[in-house]
Amino acid sequence: MIKKNSPIPIYYQIVERIQKQIANGDLQPGDALPSEREFAEKYHISRMTVRQALTQLENDGYIYRIRGKGTFISEHKIEQTLPGLTSFTEDMTARGLKPGSHLLHFEIIPATEQIAKMLRISEYGPVYEIKRIRLADHVPMALETNYISANLIKGFTEDIVNQSIYAYMEEQLGLKIEHATQTIESSVANETEAKMLEIKPGAPIMLIQRNTFLQDGTPVELVKSTYRADRYKFAIQLRRKN
Ligand code: GLP
Repeated sequence: MIKKNSPIPIYYQIVERIQKQIANGDLQPGDALPSEREFAEKYHISRMTVRQALTQLENDGYIYRIRGKGTFISEHKIEQTLPGLTSFTEDMTARGLKPGSHLLHFEIIPATEQIAKMLRISEYGPVYEIKRIRLADHVPMALETNYISANLIKGFTEDIVNQSIYAYMEEQLGLKIEHATQTIESSVANETEAKMLEIKPGAPIMLIQRNTFLQDGTPVELVKSTYRADRYKFAIQLRRKN
């Protein structure tokens, strides 16, 4: 029941109630929610309060709205455990989703100062610039731009980079990808990102930069990614020092 004189705001009680129904499976991805008016009548609250709750749930990626059709429960977020150095292809396959890519750009360019420094190659040295939309079951999840030294990695073709870059480097070239450093920042989608990720401009995204190294310490890639925050979350194990 909604408690009108609780210190917890009414809109937030609605938010928690819906989150709970999603967590225990009463509400499944794709299920339609009642309209604002029906909600308001059911709980004897104002439509503005209902709207506030739905906006919060939408911003947090629990629901989505289709104009003229209604409000629906979103797919569950894909959870990636942070310490594992995995590829997109492995992440999706592990979840039973079909990995895919849409290649936007594939070119050898001269390394800028920043790219050269990270890849430890000379400035203007040849690097592949690979831009891909990464898909899970044909749904866009992320935009990724990889910079990889063309002197280190030979033989990339459009066909190869449209599939798994890690699989090619490990299985075809026998390289040992070993560790990476990664930063994650929150941001909002601009017009171009929104269009490619099929989200609204201003929707939350995560900017991820990964610097990946081979076993012998050679930097192998610099990757700048934009992940949909409504479909992706990261999990990390924390251990208290004793
Ligand atoms: C993830 C990482 C990228 C990495 C990519 C390789 O998406 N964020 O840094 O380049 O995996 O994926 P794949 O082997 O599927 O091309």
